[in-house]
Amino acid sequence: MMKGDWRASNRVKQISKSAIHEMTRLSKEIEDVAFLSWAKPTSDTPEHIKEGAIAAIRDGLAGGYSETSGLSKLREEIVKKLKRDNNIDADVSQVIVTVGAIEGLSATVMAMIDPGDEVILPSPTYSTHIRQVVIASGKPVFVPTIEEEGFVLDIEGIKNAITPKTKAIIYCSPSNPTGTVFSEEELRQLAKVSIDNNLMVITDEAYEYFTYDGHKHFSIASIPEMKKSVVSCFTFTKTYAMTGWRVGYLHADEELIPQIGKAHIPLAICAPVVSQYAALAALQGSQDCVVKFGEHYLATRNLMCERLDTLNSVFEYQKPGGSYLMFPKIITEEGKDSATFCKKLLREAKVSTTPGIAFGPTGERHLRLSFCVPDDMINKAFDRMEAYFK
Ligand SMILES: Cc1ncc(COP(=O)(O)O)c(C=O)c1O
Repeated sequence: MMKGDWRASNRVKQISKSAIHEMTRLSKEIEDVAFLSWAKPTSDTPEHIKEGAIAAIRDGLAGGYSETSGLSKLREEIVKKLKRDNNIDADVSQVIVTVGAIEGLSATVMAMIDPGDEVILPSPTYSTHIRQVVIASGKPVFVPTIEEEGFVLDIEGIKNAITPKTKAIIYCSPSNPTGTVFSEEELRQLAKVSIDNNLMVITDEAYEYFTYDGHKHFSIASIPEMKKSVVSCFTFTKTYAMTGWRVGYLHADEELIPQIGKAHIPLAICAPVVSQYAALAALQGSQDCVVKFGEHYLATRNLMCERLDTLNSVFEYQKPGGSYLMFPKIITEEGKDSATFCKKLLREAKVSTTPGIAFGPTGERHLRLSFCVPDDMINKAFDRMEAYFK
């Protein structure tokens, strides 16, 4: 008997069901769940951004395709932003507007990875990166981060994992799921490893604007020697609460861009044009909304950490320096199997979280909690957990 459906490719058959979507499905079966499992901002998109899209629709600008690499006006604004906020010297010809960061990452991986190529993932890491590598028939190689020091990069571990087949390293900072912000010093060390070993670095900088306690976001592409070795992926999703608009962008050097473009076109042709106008309004408008979102996440992070402190017989945690996610370790016996732990917590305490195993093998014994929710949701979830674990 052939295993699974003969119609499906081996590439997709290797991929297990998304634990995040599974938890969402199970949560829907239960009434009044305290929901901490989505990395999706609960705020709505700011009005001036919606207005940008409405005006484009009204003016008849949104019904056709744009250039495959995106509206040139938008790419000009992106170039200014890359210089101002990321210290990246870019030209409009080095930018592709993508369908969220996800499509940019997928196109990059498809453009760069051949079957059997190894891709190093400092882990735990965002589950979608793992799938992107597998779909390209690449091999994910997990290098654990150092949890006790705040999930920092293990540079020696990364060096030891390199083989003649290693092609690239993919990381996200600030991190999903740990909330760690890799420091400039760590990323300079990673850059050296990449240069010494001819490895590409693919970054996911989705949470670049949300950092706390003096942690600073650093873009590895700002290091001049890395010019040809980095593809940097960004998005409007988190910064401007634009999850559903599906718009992001990537930057790479001018020789690589046409190769990535060859993968981008069959995936998307171009990013949704109405969303590109919304993105233009986001970059041209006031940035106060970004500051406000950041202040809210700092407050909810503090609240979540305070509430976790009272559950210290169940969880140990590293305080996240960025993003709006954290990754406590479950220190009870039941934590050995994070998927069963999370399902039980959902059924018996009506709290929805994400099992750590979704983020690679080093994620086991953990769960991911999102603090991009109102205070009330955090309090409801922790009131229930306190009663449940008593
Ligand atoms: C690290 C990371 N990258 C990318 C995404 C998705 O980005 P986009 O909506 O821009 O495709 C997410 C969403 O959760 C994420 O956490």
